[in-house]
Amino acid sequence: MAAVGSAVGLGNIWRFPYEAGQNGGGAFLLVYLICVFILGIPTLMAEMTLGRMAKTNSVEAFRRMSSHPVFSRIGYLGVFSCLLILGFYTVVAGWTFQYMWESVSGGIEGMTSEQFSQSFVEFSSSPFQPIFWTVLMFLITHLIIIGGVQKGIERASKFMMPLLFVLLVVLCGNSLTLDGAREGLSFLFKPDFSAINSSVVLSAMGQAFFSLSLGAGVMITYASYFEKDVNLPRTVTTVSLLDTSVALLAGVVIFPAVFTFGIEPTQGPNLVFVTLPNIFAQLPWGSVWSFFFFLLLALASITSLISLHQVVTAYVEEEFRLSNRKSALVVSCLAAVLAVFASLSLGVMNDVQIAGMCLFDLLDYVTAKIMMPLGSLLLCVFMGWRLDKSELINEVTNHGTLRWRLAKVWVVALKYVIPILITLVFVNELGLFKL
Ligand code: PFF
Repeated sequence: MAAVGSAVGLGNIWRFPYEAGQNGGGAFLLVYLICVFILGIPTLMAEMTLGRMAKTNSVEAFRRMSSHPVFSRIGYLGVFSCLLILGFYTVVAGWTFQYMWESVSGGIEGMTSEQFSQSFVEFSSSPFQPIFWTVLMFLITHLIIIGGVQKGIERASKFMMPLLFVLLVVLCGNSLTLDGAREGLSFLFKPDFSAINSSVVLSAMGQAFFSLSLGAGVMITYASYFEKDVNLPRTVTTVSLLDTSVALLAGVVIFPAVFTFGIEPTQGPNLVFVTLPNIFAQLPWGSVWSFFFFLLLALASITSLISLHQVVTAYVEEEFRLSNRKSALVVSCLAAVLAVFASLSLGVMNDVQIAGMCLFDLLDYVTAKIMMPLGSLLLCVFMGWRLDKSELINEVTNHGTLRWRLAKVWVVALKYVIPILITLVFVNELGLFKL
């Protein structure tokens, strides 16, 4: 359930719809599903297998399994990715607090679609409010990491995560009754094959890794706490099924509304935060729905933030021999500084651009579209080529006590299919070679 908690979060509800909106809807969804299936699921299996074999943090896991000068260092890339993701993910997580606040203070009543959009842009580009919420998010994550409220959050997420799922299903029902339902669904589910190009493929691949929390060491770290008798194939199936269904549900909630309220599907990170208030505003008891939805979304983000923070903290703790509290403090402070700049980059610092992107967009792009696929590629090469095949199969089948018919196919995927496909996507996007 912790692995599901890490996987399900803003990636499904905020990032998936906006990436789908920007990349042609159905075309994106199709490539995304293929990526989850061919790249995501075997990589998730690889991370969990490595984690349980090595039983240690994600940097040490590679070191312990190989003394090779390059392979033993793959783990650092993941730690660095987690730190960078914390730098923008916490900002978006903070936005959910603003929406909870606006729901209780009556801010969503009687506004038009235009006004929702304007008020979001005003809010996200202002220098103080978003930073206040971001810092609050860091504080909560920090307290959980140093152990104070761990039990509480565990108990809370055990019933709140299923509740988020139920709420999404109910909102889907509502979205299907909207005027733009047909148009929205056909945008999401009817692939326009001519829209598939290298950047759609790169975006879909990045989204698959991001959504399943892959290539950053999170699943290695979590699986290091697994018992010997955990059924890995079943765990991997559960995590990926739940994660993908939440993304699909979010799409079905969002796109009918996008077309009903005349919202531009291609507007990027703003999309969900502009669309959802429109949905709540037309519901009876809209503010109540809105409050609960954003509360559950905040919780889903926190369970993902914990996993990101934990990877970096566990590393700092062991590498620099610091206490858990000190390491967590170092990580929170570093990431918070990054997040403050990421938030400011949407407003007062928007003219500071790197490679044509502000810091917020850059962090999102570099982690999801470069670092996580690269981390996954290296992991698969490591597992497929450096580790012994029979040892791998032994681990996934719990030393022969479980049958997993796909074990051999999985090893082939690690050795050849995944490394080749990820490389092709990279090379294609760089324009070095055109498929
Ligand atoms: N998978 C999370 C989500 O979809 O919201 C985000 C995430 C968590 C990405 C942990 C990467 C990671 F290492």
